[in-house]
Amino acid sequence: MIRRTLMSGAFALALAAGTAFAQDTVKIGLILPMTGPFASTGRQIDGAVKLWLSQNGTTVAGKKIEVILKDDGGTADTTRRLAQELVVNDKVQVLAGFGLTPLALATVPIATQAKIPELVMAAATSSITEQSPYVIRAGFTLPQITVPLAEWAAKNGIRKVVTLVTDYGPGIDAENAFKSRFTAAGGEVTAELRVPLRNPDFAPFLQRAHDARPDAVFVFVPSGVGSIFMKQFIERGMDKSGIRLIGTGDVTDDDILNGMGDVALGVITSFHYSAAHPSAANKAYVEGYKKLNGTRPNFMSVGGYDGMRMIYEALKKTNGDASGDALLAAMKGLSFESPRGPVTIDPATRDPIQNVYMRKVERVDGELWNVEFATTPSVKDPLHK
Ligand code: PHB
Repeated sequence: MIRRTLMSGAFALALAAGTAFAQDTVKIGLILPMTGPFASTGRQIDGAVKLWLSQNGTTVAGKKIEVILKDDGGTADTTRRLAQELVVNDKVQVLAGFGLTPLALATVPIATQAKIPELVMAAATSSITEQSPYVIRAGFTLPQITVPLAEWAAKNGIRKVVTLVTDYGPGIDAENAFKSRFTAAGGEVTAELRVPLRNPDFAPFLQRAHDARPDAVFVFVPSGVGSIFMKQFIERGMDKSGIRLIGTGDVTDDDILNGMGDVALGVITSFHYSAAHPSAANKAYVEGYKKLNGTRPNFMSVGGYDGMRMIYEALKKTNGDASGDALLAAMKGLSFESPRGPVTIDPATRDPIQNVYMRKVERVDGELWNVEFATTPSVKDPLHK
């Protein structure tokens, strides 16, 4: 108890020292899972941050930008410790990254006490931005991208659905959003299955989904887990059972889609980003990303790229004032053309308002892509309206 009081006293003192003088360098603490089961998210975002820096330079509004990358391995205790070290020792003015919801949540008290932006590039549970006025999001939320799919399913001959989601924040958000919209449109959810986040074995859940004989299985798994899911989907013969597979675009992640093979063909998903998005901005993005990093970019990378853009645009607006409240105020309401399409940061909720696309996996020029076929424009998080 005493130790805790002393620690937080020292933390507060260090914070005061860090903000007492203006600095020429703006430091961004970038915390990502660079190792462990969610390392693909870290790799994607790191690659996008490097692309942004290579294209836009490391000076903005007279300030030198320094990105300090830390690997939390996907473990919340580590994220919290790294965030505290970045604030106290490195005196960062922005905390960014956060590959999973629990990692973003673990950082909220640190960013809030330090009064600096927590810029969430990846984690997508709706409630994260509600935790503190210092949290702002560059990516998406699960309810935002799920609702258009529920409406599409109801209109396209799907009556009975089994939902199958990873059992934590974003999965539960997806399950709830799907069910409420789909049932409101006349559909029925006959079973709601939740699979553990750590070391998932989908087989028993897929068996239950198969036995329930729905028209479709709706799936959410976090980025990087889609290949394991698809492999087990085929092993259970689900691809030949006549049960359709629909889901959020996390399952047909552009990073791993090509490796899935033909089983992924025809899978329908809804999402805010496809590497196949047919805009000049996206073509340039995909090319630039591939050239620098050697792989196709996915939606996580776009959250990282646009997160950097938000910092740069905000610094331009504040004329280089990197104090937390000034940066946050400048980020709110920003509008820009992202590789995903037009984005506005909702000043009231600090979440992106963006198009949500319906996509179908198709083979184009020998590669698998999420080909967009319908757009719902300017979608807000339905829980934050
Ligand atoms: C999350 O933990 O919030 C998360 C992670 C990966 C995703 C989506 C959400 O693909």
